[in-house]
This record gives sequence, structure tokens and C-alpha cells, in this order.
Amino acid sequence: FFILSMSPLLSQTNYDESKVPSFEVPDPLMTFKGKKIKTVKKWEKTRRPELFHFFENNVYGKIPKTLKIDSYTILEQDDNAFNGKAKRKQVELSFKNNGKTLRYTILLYLPKNKVKAPVFLGYNFYGNHTITEDKAVFISSAWANNNESFGIENNTLTEVSRGKRTNRWAVEKILDAGYGLATIYYGEVDPDKNDFTDGIHSLLYQQDQNHPKPDEWGSIAAWSWGMVRAVDYFEKDPDIDASKVIAFGHSRLGKTSLWAGVMDKRFAGVISNDSGCGGAAMSKRKFGETLAVINDRFPHWFCDNFNEYNENEEALPVDQHQLLALIAPRPLYVASAQEDQWADPRGEFLSAHYATQVYHLYDKEGIETMEMPKVNEPIHNTVSYHIRTGKHDVTDYDWENYIKWANAYVK
Ligand code: GCU
Repeated sequence: FFILSMSPLLSQTNYDESKVPSFEVPDPLMTFKGKKIKTVKKWEKTRRPELFHFFENNVYGKIPKTLKIDSYTILEQDDNAFNGKAKRKQVELSFKNNGKTLRYTILLYLPKNKVKAPVFLGYNFYGNHTITEDKAVFISSAWANNNESFGIENNTLTEVSRGKRTNRWAVEKILDAGYGLATIYYGEVDPDKNDFTDGIHSLLYQQDQNHPKPDEWGSIAAWSWGMVRAVDYFEKDPDIDASKVIAFGHSRLGKTSLWAGVMDKRFAGVISNDSGCGGAAMSKRKFGETLAVINDRFPHWFCDNFNEYNENEEALPVDQHQLLALIAPRPLYVASAQEDQWADPRGEFLSAHYATQVYHLYDKEGIETMEMPKVNEPIHNTVSYHIRTGKHDVTDYDWENYIKWANAYVK
């Protein structure tokens, strides 16, 4: 995703640590009314809900109502995928409301000799067929962002892009470690453009509504919703251990995995890979991407109320470490990349650190130190963190670490 035109805000992007404003880190364990939280019970009864509602009404937006799976269809299945290593399934979920239907397809690779497999669930950017060379994977007919190097023109996915993103999905490593992989093309749940007439939003409008209300869901919340509904399906699939589903996501889809993990406690673990602004990174640092920039370039991602804080981060009564804290006590992995300064690696690290105090309430360990680890020296705890060499991407190194952490804290 390249920045084509330089808006004045973008040219002001701060990459200088000495120019990070001093700010007070909102205390996860102090209620908005100033009461100190000391127990799990008080956290779960008072503080967690009030923080959750703040993020829901002012950041990602509320989902107007529950909509359950209407039906699902196993479109295709093969017990000898990946050189006989895996069972492949392509399962279509279908939703109906307002006389409209939404369908999206989950591609599943499950380790063959496992009765009920734990799974990593994550969206892909350009279709399920891009994550593997496997010819049997269907090509989505949903709208896609054009991408010259993947041969995507006229917003249409074709055979040209098959396997183009295998580098981001360590499928064999995942299978060999005894996990399944479930992936969905995010554009099937909501096309990633500033248009609210399509995708899941349109199924849940009230009469005459054609845009979410200021406190209603943007695209990130819509994508998160799609992950939650996938877990509903997993609960019905005898090959999957639905109590061991790990939400994974990169970048905008890492913002999505975090919000999914917060919304639904059935996610047994959550991974944020380079999620940056509006994800794991702290907004008040104003380092790299800022709220004004993200809300200007991607006006459909968050709810409209979030605009209140454009160039006005001081006014935010919360910050993203409190979002991470809402995942406690479940295992959480925050990862950054050295060359991904746009996503503010230090802001992602500090967020994991400041969230850790809530994990302490549950006697779990997280990022205890305020000193960032060296590159490629991960810190593994219930809350884990690493910064690796390289750019904004998902690499085998990332997956090796996610698997190690999942083995120790989720499995
Ligand atoms: C843009 C955007 C980021 C986002 C990224 C991505 O760079 O500014 O916030 O994380 O796209 O999704 O790749």
C-alpha cells in the first residue's frame, strides 16, 4: 500500500522519538470516575465493560444486531491435500437479512492425524487462492483492490494471483506443529472501500438507512464480526477444537484480529502482526501514522465518532494498550518489524507493556520491562512481543514464534 499523494498531514509524519509528546498513559486499572481496580472481579464487572463500550462506541463502532449463520455448505473437501499432510475443506457461510444474502468462504487446512485441531484463523488480502499454490482453491468473485504485480485489474481476482502470497502463510510449518489454518478473503465480508452499500453492513440497516450511524461499525468491526461467525462454524465442525482458535492478522487485518479477540472471549489467543495505528500502537505518541491520517485515507475503517480525535489525541480518555488489556487473561502476541516505522514499533511494544498490569491481576506474565528487546530477540510470556528485522510483512520468522508461543500458552 503505497502513499501516492502527499497530504500536508502526511508530510508532517513524525519519526523522531524526541518529538513524541509527553502524555499521561491512561491507567487500565482506574475507572473513568477515578476508582482504582484491584481485583479480577471488579475488573470484569466494572472496568472491562466500560473500556469495552468506549472502544465500541468511539473507535470501531457497534454492530447493530446479532446475525447468525443462516446455513453453511462444504463446497469441497479433500483428505489428501498438501502432499497427503492435510485435510482441505472449503466451507461457505451464508447470512440472510433485509432480503439480502452475504456469503463468504473459509479455506481450511487441517493436520491429518489429529482428531480435533487447534486452528489459526486469519484473513488474507487478495483471496484464499493467493496463500497457496494448491490449484483446488477457489478464486473469489468478490471486489478486490487492484494490484499490478498480482495481475489484479478491474477489481477482479484471476488465476494470475494464485500463490502470490505463499510467503506470508507458513502452511506446512503450521500443519507440522499440529495446528490447522483457516483463512478467509476479507473482501467477501466487506469490500475494503469507502462504500457502505455493500458487504455485511447492508444486511443490517434499518429502513432507509444507507450509512452506519456515528457510533456504528466501520469495516474493521465488520471484518472482526466475520471472524466471530467463523468460530460459530468451528463449533459445529468435528475436525476443529473450537476452544483453541487463535485470531491472527497482519496490518489492517491485525487491527481486526485484536478487535475480534476483544469482542469474543472464545478466541483462545490473539496475534497482532504489525497492526500499527488503531491496532496495537499507542495513538497518543503521534509517531508514524496518526489518527487524522488514517481516518482521512481510510474513512470507512473506524466509526465516524473516532474522527473526534483527529489531531486531538490528548482528548482520548483511552489508548490502545487498554484495548490489548481487554484480551486478558488470554494469550496475546504483539509483533513489529524494524523497517515498519509507519506502524510505530515502540508504540506497539509499550502498549503490550502497559497492558501487562491487567494480566498481573490474573497472575499471568507479560512484557515486564520498558526496555525494548533487540531485534530478533523475542520475549515470550502470556503476553509476547518481538521486533524482527525487515519490513511490513508476515515472515516465516513471525510464524515460528507464533507457533512456539501457541505451544507454550494456548495448546
Ligand atoms: C496502510 C495503513 C495502515 C495499515 C496498512 C495495511 O499502510 O496506513 O494503517 O495497517 O495500510 O493494512 O497494510
